[in-house]
Amino acid sequence: MTERPSLGIGLMSGTSLDGMDAALVRFTGPTQAALLAFTSCAYDRGTRQSLEDAITSSTAADLARLHARLGHLAVAACQQVLDESHHLASQLDFISFPGHTVWHEPPTVSWQLGDPAILAETFGTRVVHDFRARDIAAGGEGAPLVPMADMLLFGHCGQPRVLLNIGGMANLTYVPRAAVDDGVLAFDTGPGMALIDELARHVDPALSYDTDAVVSSQGKADPGVVEDLLTDEFFRRSPPKSTGRERFGAAVAHDMASRVPGPDGVATAVALTVESIARAITRWVPAPLSEVVVSGGGRRHPGVIRGLEVRLASGGTAVRLFDDVFFDGDAKEAVAFALLGYLTVHGQPGNLPAATGARAARVLGSIIPP
Ligand SMILES: Nc1ncnc2c1ncn2[C@@H]1O[C@H](COP(=O)(O)OP(=O)(O)O)[C@@H](O)[C@H]1O
Ligand SMILES: [Mg+2]
Repeated sequence: MTERPSLGIGLMSGTSLDGMDAALVRFTGPTQAALLAFTSCAYDRGTRQSLEDAITSSTAADLARLHARLGHLAVAACQQVLDESHHLASQLDFISFPGHTVWHEPPTVSWQLGDPAILAETFGTRVVHDFRARDIAAGGEGAPLVPMADMLLFGHCGQPRVLLNIGGMANLTYVPRAAVDDGVLAFDTGPGMALIDELARHVDPALSYDTDAVVSSQGKADPGVVEDLLTDEFFRRSPPKSTGRERFGAAVAHDMASRVPGPDGVATAVALTVESIARAITRWVPAPLSEVVVSGGGRRHPGVIRGLEVRLASGGTAVRLFDDVFFDGDAKEAVAFALLGYLTVHGQPGNLPAATGARAARVLGSIIPP
């Protein structure tokens, strides 16, 4: 017997600071999710600057105002995905709003901004929010949380698979078999696109990122600097582990740009992302592994994808795009948060202790009634 379908929106604002994503998803069970529509609302320069400043130079007033602004931007993203798919807010069972992480310091705290009450008031819909706090309280890192979706929705029933998301940071989930949590391994591998973006902006401040690898392809990576950066304690630490812009952000980018100026610096950041992901797979993921399925904006960077293909070929591992296996790879994390909201609404745990290090599975988040 299948349950009554429920309709939810999952929101996502990632470490790339590029915008807020919204996915409209229909669930007929925790392993049955259909993506109905997806949209992304780009942040304007002012919002992106506020999000960057949040880490370094914000006052309480700045943060409070950003909290409200993100709530309104979440409303805009939801309205857009409803309009584009000709749905009404009254059809929604829930909205899942994880907010935007401004400070991630496990095991002490992981703090997200974005006022969920504005969503509840605007749409009259139940809103699930604040997903990370309970996992942190249970001794976990509060991240990554996407692995539950990787396990329930995106595993392969016949063979092990790695789901790799390359956003601002990069994270992977090893799923031995679809919808079975036994043996799942998940962790952040380190920087994804955040350093590449920053280095590209050091070369040309007008750039948002190294579009289609145009800048990095004109440069040559400095292997000495890559090796030096790979000595960071984070890379040696065994999973579970998670990271963010606090560690791999503006300060590291600035240091890299002064050591390797120009396009060579961007190529060096590309090599660091590729090498840290490849080494994480070789070191921590059980062999043999036949495929890595890549989502997130990094899958659009030809240098990153080609680099991974070359590095993983020797282990017999193919690199496949999430889009070719499931749906739009930009939508994956928003769909994952829709699933986490669905689980919370149904009283089901959303964390995988193997991924976050929490002492046990927990129902995540807080629910604002409609
Ligand atoms: N055409 C492209 N060429 C190169 N990089 C791209 C391209 N499109 C997107 N990206 C990269 O993807 C990033 C956004 O990825 P995303 O998955 O949204 O990250 P996050 O989840 O952290 O917000 C951009 O910052 C950029 O680095
Ligand atoms: Mg994004």
